[in-house]
Parts: sequence; C-alpha cells; structure tokens
Amino acid sequence: MKPDQLLPLIPEQHDAGDPARHGIRVPFVRPALPRPETLAGPFADIIASGRLTKGPYCEEFEQAIAKRLGVRYAVAVSSCTIGLMLVYRGLDLSAGSCLSRRKNGDKCAVAGMEPLSRFGIARSGTRNEPLGEVVIPSFTFLAAAAAIVWNNLRPVFVDVDPNTTNVTPQAIRAAITPRTVAIAACHNFGNPCDLPGLESVAAEHGLPLIIDAAHGFGASMHGRPVGAGATAQVFSLSPTKLLVAGEGGIVATNCDCLAHFVRMGREYGNDGSYDALFPGVNGRMPELSAATALASLEILDDVSDRRNQLADMYRRDLGELPGIGFVELMPGARSSYKDFSITIDPTKFGMTRDALRRVLAARGIETRAYYDPPCHRQTAYEHFYDRMRPLPATDLLAARSLALPIGAHVDESIVREVCDVIATAKQAV
Ligand SMILES: Cc1ncc(COP(=O)(O)O)c(C=O)c1O
Repeated sequence: MKPDQLLPLIPEQHDAGDPARHGIRVPFVRPALPRPETLAGPFADIIASGRLTKGPYCEEFEQAIAKRLGVRYAVAVSSCTIGLMLVYRGLDLSAGSCLSRRKNGDKCAVAGMEPLSRFGIARSGTRNEPLGEVVIPSFTFLAAAAAIVWNNLRPVFVDVDPNTTNVTPQAIRAAITPRTVAIAACHNFGNPCDLPGLESVAAEHGLPLIIDAAHGFGASMHGRPVGAGATAQVFSLSPTKLLVAGEGGIVATNCDCLAHFVRMGREYGNDGSYDALFPGVNGRMPELSAATALASLEILDDVSDRRNQLADMYRRDLGELPGIGFVELMPGARSSYKDFSITIDPTKFGMTRDALRRVLAARGIETRAYYDPPCHRQTAYEHFYDRMRPLPATDLLAARSLALPIGAHVDESIVREVCDVIATAKQAV
C-alpha cells in the first residue's frame, strides 16, 4: 500500500450541512502520520507480545511527553475529553467541597487539593446541591463544556479577546463568584493563552486552573513547549492534531494526587486491588496508539515548522485583502496552527463568511467554521447561558471565523490557490 493510501479523510468534526462534504479536492485536514516503516517494528513487537494495553509503549510515551513538557506527570488517556472529565472529577469540585478545602488549609501544594486518601469523592453524586461553577470561554470546542457538565458542574460562559480568540484573565476575574470552583481556558487553534495572567487570577482566588491544551502539541511560549503550569493541561492526540495517536489524550500535571487519580480513573477507579475507590471509566491508551504517538513525536517539530511556514504564506498572501483578520499571538508565542483561522468582515470584504465558504466549496476546497455555534448556543449548554452577560466577541467570531486547509497535504501551490479563490471570490458569485 502506498503511504498516500494510508492517509484517510477525516470524518471527524464535519459540521452538518458542510457545503464541502462532497467533491472535496483539497480536504480541510489530513493527519501528518509517521512513515509506515517506522511503525512496522513497534506494531510487530506489540502483536508478537500480545500485550495490547497497559504495556511498555504507553509508559515510554508518557515519559517522553513528561520530559518534553517539563512536567512531573504525563498520564496517557483515551482522549482529551476523557482526560478533562477525569481531571474535573479528580479535583472533586462538587459544590462546597472546594471552598471547605480552602478553609481547612490542608491542601496539595500544586493543585490546592487534599491528599487523595481524604477525597470526598462520594460528594460528586450530590445532584440536589447547587452546582459549583466553572468559568470557561464559550468560544471553544464542545467537549470542553461536556467535561464540566458530566461532572455535575455548571459552566459559566465568558467572552474571549476577539484578536487572540483566547480568554483573558480580566474576563475570568469578572466572572468569579463564591460559587466558582475552577477556571478553564484553552490554547485556541494552538495559540498559547496567557498562562501567567490566568495563573495569577487562579492563585488570587485559590482556584484550580484547567487548560484545554487539545491543540497544544507543536505550540510554544518563549521557545518552550506549552503544557507546563496550571493545575493540569489536557492534550488531544486525535487525527486533526499535530501529534497523532489515532485517538488519545495526555493529562499533564505536577500534582501527585491528581496524576494518581487520573491513573485510577482511566482504570475503572481501580487502584490495582480490584476494589474500585470511585466509579471510573476505561480511559486507557492502547499500545498501538501509544506506539503511533511515539513515532509521531519524532516528527512533531517538523510538522509544526511546516504549519508555521504555511501560516506565514497565508498571512502574506491574504494580508492585503480588505476585511480579512488574523489571529494575534502574544509576544513570545508560537502557535501550533492546529487550525489556521481567519475572520471575514462582511462589510469590508464584501461577502459573508458563509458565502465565501460556498465559493471555496464550489472549487473543492474544504473549510470549517470553528466554533459555530459556540458552546453557549448549543442545545446541550444554552440553558447555562446567562443572557444578562452577553458574549459579543464570541458571537462575532462564531459568525466570521473560517479555518482554511492546513497540514501535511497542503503545499505552496494549494495555499496560493486558496488565496486566489478568496481574492477573486466576489467575482465568482
Ligand atoms: C479545544 C478542544 N478540546 C477538546 C477536544 C476533544 O479532544 P478529543 O477528541 O481527543 O476528546 C477537542 C477536539 O478536537 C478540541 O478541539
């Protein structure tokens, strides 16, 4: 089989009604996979050993990631969503418990948590208590809200900075109430968020800070890969990301008890004694996925460099067009460009985002409209949205953002073609 035949189209995240689903010439994304020959040895080894899960490849991958990120623990899980769910559950944020922990002063130095042996894990089933609140940007992927609500917590949606698309420490601070039990943020599209600013708000209020780092592999701040800092940062290794396991996630933390909790949580809540300490899940990363991820790690820096080159080309070729906006990066930040997302100002550009999408689709160029609708307008989460607290930047970004094809399958000629179609789009309608 030719390597090209090994690169599937990604059905993941196709929005319903995506005009580009049929007749796609330039797919939105294709994973940058390691060369098949680099996987052949490890795959043969795993198959010969018969050890398909809980084996040495997963351990080696965890150690390699912990070293790369500069964290004490990198716990491999089956997806970022499961990782986030386990982190919220591990922090035991059910109403009141966080506040009472803060009062008794007996906390883990890193996460502000009690030692695991004293976890009031049973409290998380307290459906009749008022929900603890987690402050989270709405302009993010729906899984981030799911992880909160699955833990019987209430997401409090806040706005983002329209230039960076990330949440600001100021917006988070303004939304904190006595019911707040945690703060959540995201490196949107791979653009590193303001971690020092967010950490100081978290410290001011004694709250855990959870970063959705789903897009984070391949991003860096002042030359260091993002992933260290905060209570936990949780990565995705699904095929749309730069580091690919097939499906998978990483929980990066310096907190002993949280890492221990996630390890048990991915294993049904079993600490090895076959006595579940709490109701866990099967959240393990299979050995074949870990081996794929290890090989993918070898090419991660090249993959990120390539995406940054393509992003520079897009910025240069689209930069002169009226009404096109780009995601701003903080000083010292390098994006992974998990997505290259632009904004279309319909008045200045002369056409809406959706109309431009249709023009691109007619030329076989697949795009995505992340995140439209944003979390606070999704069926599962809209009842958490407080209409007295409007989210204008989020709504504007949701209506105007357009993610263009980027990745292993995109070369200079494709970037030029996409930019030409955008530049002449008005003539096409
Ligand atoms: C911002 C964000 N968070 C969480 C996730 C969920 O990741 P996973 O599919 O690994 O569960 C994604 C997936 O793309 C994402 O984009």
